[in-house]
Amino acid sequence: MAKERVVLAYSGGLDTSVAIGWIAEQTGAEVVTVAVDVGQGGEDLEVVRQRALDCGAVEAYVADARDEFAEDYCMLDLQANGLYMEAYPLVSALSRPLIVKHLVTAARQFGAETVAHGCTGKGNDQVRFENGITSLAPDMKCLSPVRDLALTREFAINYAEKHNLPIETTKSNPFSIDQNVWGRAIETGYLEDLWNAPTKDVYNYTDDPAYPPLPDEVVITFEKGIPVQIDGRDVTPLQAIEEMNARAGAQGIGRIDIVEDRMVGIKSREIYEAPGAVALITAHRELERVTMDREQARFKERVGLRWSELVYEGQWFSPLKRSLDAFIKDTQEYVSGDIRMVLHGGRAVVTGRRSDTSLYDFNLATYDQGDTFNQSHARGFIALTGLTTQLAAARDVKFGKGEAMPKLSLS
Ligand code: ARG
Repeated sequence: MAKERVVLAYSGGLDTSVAIGWIAEQTGAEVVTVAVDVGQGGEDLEVVRQRALDCGAVEAYVADARDEFAEDYCMLDLQANGLYMEAYPLVSALSRPLIVKHLVTAARQFGAETVAHGCTGKGNDQVRFENGITSLAPDMKCLSPVRDLALTREFAINYAEKHNLPIETTKSNPFSIDQNVWGRAIETGYLEDLWNAPTKDVYNYTDDPAYPPLPDEVVITFEKGIPVQIDGRDVTPLQAIEEMNARAGAQGIGRIDIVEDRMVGIKSREIYEAPGAVALITAHRELERVTMDREQARFKERVGLRWSELVYEGQWFSPLKRSLDAFIKDTQEYVSGDIRMVLHGGRAVVTGRRSDTSLYDFNLATYDQGDTFNQSHARGFIALTGLTTQLAAARDVKFGKGEAMPKLSLS
């Protein structure tokens, strides 16, 4: 009988390289690795593929998913203005469902029944992987060698040395880092003391905003909530993010330092840098203010917050998330036009807006000539919108509960 197979989410790093042999030893299964490029930079996929095979994988699947990630994941976050706890643009949370998709594809292709990942038992990523897998492939089993098979860092170093694995075990990074084209997440090390300020070596996508180069003016053109041009040049979503990463990053835009509520109940210190995401969300948000109906915009704000929580909590494939996606997409119908921003010293400041689908009416807004607003409507409008409060206030007075109101002294 053929051996069982396990598909492993493979980063090319020490832990997942050791996991290949360790899973095989512990479960008797053959291991197939899956490495997905979501714009994390670093090594060539072919190098990663070869390392997986050298570490004992029977098959090694690699996918360049950068455009897919930008188009189908980052752009949804942009349209939602998705920021968890109003700050974090969901960098890692967005990439996990995409990696899951490729894991399940590989599992089907190579006949595996179990999917494994290198997450610990304390974080959000394990939830995102496993919820994703059971959503896309309810028949599949999940395995976390770090959590379930006691694969500690120390064990990994010893194992790699003993088995002569072609992977460096000495270079120890003080931080746990996850990065992709939408941003970079840095945690652990001395950052676990909440009073410690991040030092320079934490950052990689952004330069110090305290010493910026000259201001950089940019015009971003959106079509239905998607950036399609930068300074008049056509761009794909991936190119838009990459260009804004470079330009906003040079100005130190998008550094975030927060204490975040994890799903498992822990509060954790997180540093993020997401220059492109923050600049694009700033522009997109302003274009929505110009083009979106007030009530739709107010409601969308709440939807965006809920959407962000769902994505953070590994509910990417849930029915509610899908329904909110449909709402968000519908709101983008008229979110088209140009936003001009000045990028400088850590801030992206909007200085101009222009849109054929704008709801801004100059003649209604102006205090100068050409005013078409009928001020005589205001009197009745105020009388009716204030009526319920007026009734309640009169009752307070009647029952002597009107303390909040200034006492009239009639002398
Ligand atoms: N706390 C962030 C999140 O849950 C970042 C996680 C980064 N993952 C990592 N393995 N370092 O989305």
